[in-house]
Formats: sequence, structure tokens, C-alpha cells
Amino acid sequence: MYRIAPSILSADFARLGEEVLSVMAAGGDMIHFDVMDNHYVPNLSIGPMVCKAIRPVTKAIIDVHLMVRPIDRIVPDFAKAGANIISFHPEASDHVDRTIELIKEHGCKAGLVLNPATPLSWLDYTLDKLDLVLVMSVNPGFGGQSFIPAALGKLAAVRERILKSGRDIWLEIDGGVKVDNIAEIARAGADTFVAGSAIFETQDYQHTIGAMRAELARV
Ligand code: DX5
Ligand code: ZN
Repeated sequence: MYRIAPSILSADFARLGEEVLSVMAAGGDMIHFDVMDNHYVPNLSIGPMVCKAIRPVTKAIIDVHLMVRPIDRIVPDFAKAGANIISFHPEASDHVDRTIELIKEHGCKAGLVLNPATPLSWLDYTLDKLDLVLVMSVNPGFGGQSFIPAALGKLAAVRERILKSGRDIWLEIDGGVKVDNIAEIARAGADTFVAGSAIFETQDYQHTIGAMRAELARV
């Protein structure tokens, strides 16, 4: 079972509600919501107010990817704004276990994000509490970057750990996902695919998401 998560970072912000509706009607499975603070990452994007604004527009899962520091203060705001999944970068939290608990206490699923240079050891004492692991295949901060091939080996290694855990943990990939590499990424072990520019920079979202699904069907 594969999930496609369009990243609205590449959407037209002047028509955000409409963009969310079209990308879901075009076959998206969930909305990937990139939060950047110009501090943990060198870019500034959207926050809880925008999450709250799009919540009534769709019933889809809102998958919040926090690229912020500090993290804990903003978690309850996103839960209140209707987020379903909240993922964060362990380097940005002083107490990773506490942040995971905080996200769950607020009724959201919790994800941990591994940057290209972040080792898998962050999963040693966290995996049994996580609902999702997000492997970054670009350095966080901007849409439209190229896929870093080393992420494939990392996906395979995380998939192995997830299988060993026996738990239903989603394995998401984020950065540089396109129609022409999505099958290879699925073969490496991902089940959830963030795609921003690959979808929003095309004219026909349905055609693009359909092409991704056709690639996935061949895996
Ligand atoms: C990057 C973000 C991504 C980004 C992906 O920091 O986390 O979600 O929007 O964009 P594309 O798919 O264009 O690489
Ligand atoms: Zn993201």
C-alpha cells in the first residue's frame, strides 16, 4: 500500500485552499505540510494558522513536517489546528523522547525525521514509540532540490529495522521524488512519498499522480 503526499510548499499560496482541493481530487493521499522557521532551516514558510485555515477544506490527513527549533512549544498549536501527524528532526529537540510523548499526548501520530547526514542510531530507543520515520533525500529548507542517492540505502536499512520491530510504522521519503525515480525509491523500502515540485509544477496534477501510481504498480 503506497501513499502519495503532495507537499503544498510548492503550491500557489495565493490559492492554497483550491490547490489542496485539486491535489486531493487528483488522487493525493495526504497533505504534506512543511513548517520552516528561518532558524533551524534557512527558509520561512507556514505555521499553525495556515494549518487551521486548510483543515476545513479537506478530510485528508495533514502530515506536518516541523523544521523548527524549539519544537515543543509549537506542538500543541498544530494539534489544535488539526494536524494528524507531526514529525520533527531529533537534532532540533533537547529531549527527543519527551517530544514524541508530547505529540502523542495531543492526539497526533509521531514521526522522526532523518537528515541526509543523520545516523540511524536515533531510532535505537525511539522506534517502538514512533508511527512514522521520514528519511530526507535532500537537505531540508527548500523544494525543488535533487534526490540524494544515498537515501536509497538508508531507506533499506530503516525498512529492515521496521520489519524487525513488527510494528506498522510508515516509512516516508521527502525530497526530489519524481515520476522517474519513485519506483526505485519504493523498491528501497519507502511506502509514503512526499512530492512537491514534481506535482505542483505540472499543469495536470491528476496526470502526474496517475503516472506516479503507474510506476508504483510496477514495483
Ligand atoms: C524540503 C521539504 C520538502 C519539499 C519537497 O525541506 O521538506 O517536503 O517540499 O519538495 P520537492 O518534492 O520539490 O523536492
Ligand atoms: Zn517535508
